[in-house]
Amino acid sequence: MEVIVVDTAEDVAQRVADRFDTAVRGAGDAGITLGLATGSSPVRAYRELIRRYREEGLSFARARAFLLDEYVGLPTSAPQSYHRFIRDNFTDHVDIDDALVLSPAGDAADPASAAAAYDRSIVEAGGVDIQILGIGTDGHIGFNEPTSSFASRTRVKTLTRQTVADNARFFDAPEDVPVHVLTQGLGTILEARKIVLAASGESKAEAIAQAVEGPVSALWPATALQLHPAVTVVVDREAGSRLALGDYYQFVQENKARLSR
Ligand code: F6R
Repeated sequence: MEVIVVDTAEDVAQRVADRFDTAVRGAGDAGITLGLATGSSPVRAYRELIRRYREEGLSFARARAFLLDEYVGLPTSAPQSYHRFIRDNFTDHVDIDDALVLSPAGDAADPASAAAAYDRSIVEAGGVDIQILGIGTDGHIGFNEPTSSFASRTRVKTLTRQTVADNARFFDAPEDVPVHVLTQGLGTILEARKIVLAASGESKAEAIAQAVEGPVSALWPATALQLHPAVTVVVDREAGSRLALGDYYQFVQENKARLSR
């Protein structure tokens, strides 16, 4: 796992945008499949990618995208739906084809079947080339709450009370937060070819320390990322404040240029 500790949340966004920029330009006409997260963590990076689209010729015309998750029972038009969120915060502002921005159908009559169909559609599209992840204070990625199977596929999950409380800020009242979601499984997420996890703020420090340095454990779902060969974790000083090996991560970054000489 590559761990990059930077000063501020804005620095996190720049590093994440750099990875996406390189991947999108590198794919060229062959096109690329992006894995997109919602919530607060990726928003600054999306803003930077929008700026690069407007000012630096970064085009998403050959990209498609799969979201990680969606609330069960919210219509896609609801402002809190992730279908809406990704459009408001990213994809409506770049040249990606809206029909190719896909998310699990949280409003389906049969959410379990919709979840399985969504999982199949990711595989049929050839899988995700580069995935951005946030992390919950309880260590979830996607909405894979503690005790999620490391082999899990897209399915219906029940949020923890902690996650419901954390996400209440997006709703008028805490009781409006749906407790059920559709989420890509840990097994689904681990099939992405590259993964970039972004976190900022003290509230994420324990989850980040566990994800990077903790024992692989059902209690901290993000520890599943230790099993993936191409994960980059980008955190600000606060989110990285409980990492035991911070000095080593810095040493790796300082000496990185020597490898390519
Ligand atoms: C959202 C998602 C979640 C969030 C996590 C952190 O699509 O999959 O795992 O990334 O809950 O949320 P924020 O970034 O709002 O702190």
